[in-house]
Amino acid sequence: MTTSKTQVAIIGGGPSGLMLSQLLHLKGIETVVLERQTRDYVLGRIRAGVLEHGFVELMREARCGERMDREGEIHEGFSISDRGTMHRIDLEGLTGGQTVMVYGQTELTRDLYDAREKMGGIVIHEAEDVQPHDMTTDAPYVTYTKAGETHRIDCDFIIGADGFHGVSRKSIPADQIREYEKVYPFGWLGILSETKPAHDELIYARSDRGFALCSLRSQVLSRYYVQVPLTDTVENWSDDRFWDELKARLPEDVAARLETGPSIEKSIAPLRSFVAEPMRYGNMFLAGDAAHIVPPTGAKGLNSAASDIYYLYHAMLSHYENGDDSGLDAYSDTALRRVWKAQRFSWWMTSMLHVFPDHPEFDQKLQSIELDYFLSSEAARTSLAENYVGLPF
Ligand code: APR
Ligand code: PHB
Repeated sequence: MTTSKTQVAIIGGGPSGLMLSQLLHLKGIETVVLERQTRDYVLGRIRAGVLEHGFVELMREARCGERMDREGEIHEGFSISDRGTMHRIDLEGLTGGQTVMVYGQTELTRDLYDAREKMGGIVIHEAEDVQPHDMTTDAPYVTYTKAGETHRIDCDFIIGADGFHGVSRKSIPADQIREYEKVYPFGWLGILSETKPAHDELIYARSDRGFALCSLRSQVLSRYYVQVPLTDTVENWSDDRFWDELKARLPEDVAARLETGPSIEKSIAPLRSFVAEPMRYGNMFLAGDAAHIVPPTGAKGLNSAASDIYYLYHAMLSHYENGDDSGLDAYSDTALRRVWKAQRFSWWMTSMLHVFPDHPEFDQKLQSIELDYFLSSEAARTSLAENYVGLPF
């Protein structure tokens, strides 16, 4: 076994782990990132693409914002289609000038990897059997194997940024962590296609056939989703069937203009809300998907990870620069307060826009009138806009 030492050992090389590693390195704090997959595998995953202002600022602070600022699109609003009628949510007007940035997570992760490489950051790919140890002591360490050899990294802190299926959360004794979960009775079938987007802003569509979303990665790359039963598989969905169903859920004029083409990616994701509390076990801190998952309807997954990283980064700085542990001690409570607000918003957007076949008629009537109310009241739209652009860190 080879042994080495760092200050912060980060499990998981997704956006959360890479961002924290980059920010800490810029302040002279050493990190090692352990990632189970290859870099190509991580960059092959298609994920969401709407960034709140707070995330955009963090990318800039991490000196990774150059390409995002050049290629990302600022969106000043989006639309909700309610059974064929479009209603624009003027994010900028309703929030006093705030907007969101459309920039794919894949691109952003690539920028973070490039930045880590440029600074000589240590990212170990294909790290197998990663395991945190002695988290409740002052001398925690992480072990992993690579190419048949076992390695040990001693550290001050371990960061569990290894996503929902990662090892970090699962290494916490069951009586020390509480998990809250809600599983929705449907999934999203998503496709990526090299076509011009249906609209210059996102459209969240509620229809009697189910929810649909028109999103985009660029002016030549579109991302679309339709709500599907959990029993469906991608084999049930030819491209033609997908396009027909999408069109049937959109306003007629949008459907008429929709440019279709072959899908270059097609997948089904179940919808889930999940929170683990607390987000700390001794000297191990959880961040991002390792601690919480939202249904994608509010575009809050990546953005909730960003707020964790923001709090953790500042808490670590106070520890290393001033010997002040108050930020670390408050981390779990502070992060969870914002996490739960993002959970509430994501659950609410999901509840309002999807078809719930099992709901009693009374609930379905309420759902209809709730959307009607939100679209017709400026006070209500302001609340929606404030949450969509992102609550302050
Ligand atoms: N050992 C090492 N790495 C692991 C392990 C393990 N046991 N388990 C998982 N990983 C890696 C995964 O391969 C992945 O690259 O951890 C990384 C976690 O990355 P993400 O799942 O992307 O999670 P995170 O970095 O928190 O990103 C925030 O918010 O809604 C989402 O889709 C959004 O992925 C985004 C996430
Ligand atoms: C996406 O572009 O993939 C996307 C956008 C907004 C969402 C969810 C997904 O709410």
